Amino acid sequence: MTSRFRLVLIVGLLSLTLAGCGDAFNAGPIEYRDSELFTTKVKGSADLVGKPNLQATVRKALADLFGPTPQNIKVPEGSGLIEGGRLLANREEVDGRIKPLSYQSALKGSNVPVAGGYALYRKYCLHCHGVQGAGDGPTAEFLYPIPRDYRRGVFKFTSTAPSNPKPTRADLRKTLVHGLHGTSMPAFEALMDPAGIEQVIDYVIFLSMRGETERNLIAEAALASKDDPAELSADTIKEIVANVVNNWKSVEGIVVNPKARRVESSKESILRGRNIFLGINTTGNKVACTDCHGAQGIGNGTSFVEKKLFDKVVFGRKTIEKAIEVRYHELEDEHASASIPAGEGHGHSGLGMLPEKFDDYKSRELTNWEKGSMDDWGNPLRPANLNLGVYKGGRRPIDLYWRIAKGINGAKMPAHANLLPDDQIWDVVNFILALPYEPDLLKDADALKKNAAKPASVTQR
Ligand code: HEC
Ligand code: HEC
Repeated sequence: MTSRFRLVLIVGLLSLTLAGCGDAFNAGPIEYRDSELFTTKVKGSADLVGKPNLQATVRKALADLFGPTPQNIKVPEGSGLIEGGRLLANREEVDGRIKPLSYQSALKGSNVPVAGGYALYRKYCLHCHGVQGAGDGPTAEFLYPIPRDYRRGVFKFTSTAPSNPKPTRADLRKTLVHGLHGTSMPAFEALMDPAGIEQVIDYVIFLSMRGETERNLIAEAALASKDDPAELSADTIKEIVANVVNNWKSVEGIVVNPKARRVESSKESILRGRNIFLGINTTGNKVACTDCHGAQGIGNGTSFVEKKLFDKVVFGRKTIEKAIEVRYHELEDEHASASIPAGEGHGHSGLGMLPEKFDDYKSRELTNWEKGSMDDWGNPLRPANLNLGVYKGGRRPIDLYWRIAKGINGAKMPAHANLLPDDQIWDVVNFILALPYEPDLLKDADALKKNAAKPASVTQR
């Protein structure tokens, strides 16, 4: 790619001060850190361990495409960002000279000085999402769930399909304006003006493009049989970045809109939705909400490890093996005190007295942990407790429609658009919205499921 295709932007420290961001926040230049896949082996990912020449090639390609440091931004050709990415920064290079950007046109009449996406990100987002958007800022290790790593190019809450689609600007705007309820991701409506929100959206997309390009370059270079820079040709690099950019640009075309209007909420609709939730009357398709959310919808389905075990790992910071051991002893104690009459108990009961042997418990919960309890970023995941009325992706009916119809990307919650027609999805939405106020809806869940399993009652609705 030649430089005439690129728009080169340069942000200096001075410009940040000019833009009103205090030194307390922006104290000196920062640097991108390489992906861990340069030098470490991660299960399920390609890496460049032991290939220093290809590592250097990838590093150089990234610097050429996106700029060498966060202070020196370049934007790949045809990025699709507003004004070619100009609003990422607030100074730009024109004919070899660095000039302040004029924001007047972008702001449509507003005279408020704007910091640029980079400076806004640095001030408001970096401490959680990290310099390169890896979700590894200094605050991150104290949070559950941890902040999003943008570098996979996967975002949970989108209105788009099919698999792991990019979010639209409107999806990202909603996340930024309202935050993600029930997590530490704040609502920025009061902190930033609408122009600032658009600029920081550009910056998130920029970091995601950079991170996904890095990941894909590593995957391509990892295929090389020898550590020779020629194995990653300029054409291949160009193709890889074009793919990443195009996925972002084609996103408006893949928005999923309901084909049927929302079914009005009524007792009947809510009960129909409840039965679908329980896997009853789903016209032969397997709808298995309860496998994950549990029959009472509290998020304790059998596809995931026990909540108490989960908490020991995530909040007690134990390894899964240690947590399993500790939890089994607790179960033993609970079992002993429940089954031995008062006055007769003398400490531990033997393992044989438990309904399940330690080895069985261990192997089941280990499998659940590795297969079920992780999201695509490798972080521990819990199904939502649907009795709380707290929805990360928003509580409007259309938000819940999107969650159920097309799932939550990277987080195991599957799409149901191919299993349920739209009117049934709306019934489920009505049920979900009613549940926190009518917990009795799931009081007889187990009996309803059992009854439905008998062929004679399958048609009951
Ligand atoms: C206090 C920490 C914190 C701060 C500050 C923060 N975030 Fe987040 N952010 C999170 C967490 C945690 C998540 C993931 C929640 C989850 O996965 O359930 C997240 C997720 C996101 C997502 C992904 C949404 C999706 O659909 O997957 C985007 C985009 C995002 N944040 C952008 C931003 C931007 C831009 C800023 C600054 C203006 C910011 N965040 C500031 C914690 C934070
Ligand atoms: C394979 C497991 C699985 C199945 C099946 C499943 N879910 Fe989920 N669901 C999850 C997980 C995990 C989350 C939490 C994701 C997160 O927080 O990132 C979730 C979250 C949700 C949320 C919260 C959305 C939000 O914005 O916070 C709703 C509502 C929901 N599921 C409804 C359903 C319904 C209804 C069904 C059946 C039609 C269903 N789920 C089937 C795993 C599942």
